[in-house]
Amino acid sequence: PRPILLTRHGESRYNVRGRIGGDSRLSDTGEVYAKKLANFVEKRLKNERAASIQWRALDEINSGVCDGMTYEEIKKNMPEEYEYVVILIALSRNKDKLRYRYPRGESYLDVIQRLEPVIIELERQRAPVVVISHQAVLRALYAYFADRPLHEIPHIEMPLHTIIEIQMGVTGVQEKRYKLMD
Ligand code: F6P
Repeated sequence: PRPILLTRHGESRYNVRGRIGGDSRLSDTGEVYAKKLANFVEKRLKNERAASIQWRALDEINSGVCDGMTYEEIKKNMPEEYEYVVILIALSRNKDKLRYRYPRGESYLDVIQRLEPVIIELERQRAPVVVISHQAVLRALYAYFADRPLHEIPHIEMPLHTIIEIQMGVTGVQEKRYKLMD
């Protein structure tokens, strides 16, 4: 059996400030994780050919008009005339996080759909794969391999600085976790 390693990118500056979306740079801690991750992968997968590709399908859930905001701002700080929109967003998302689509953005269901080609490729690959991506995307990928039901996906815990290793063997799926930092 060959492993699939799933991990979020190292902590970003936006993560530190609780801002969603954006494409912010890594924090100092995030940079440390990036190096530790590289070392880990090198040791774990030594002798393996390592092609690296970037894939738009692995981008984080598009939070549309909320991109770059904090969860607090989504609730509070929007201009008054938008306040009801913002409250509506927070409420609707709470009510049905799986189906809720951000205005001009995506829902978890949208993300799951765009991940289909990624899953096909991951299934097809014979070599080990390391997937470095974002919280919502990894929830969806993890749920697929760990056979977790759809409705749980938006709520799966996906901690930073942790590698989830999945092995698909004849007897089913096995999982190991490596927490590289406290
Ligand atoms: O906060 C980090 C992040 O990756 C955001 O960019 C993204 O909007 C969010 O997590 C997804 O998690 P949730 O659906 O729980 O808000």
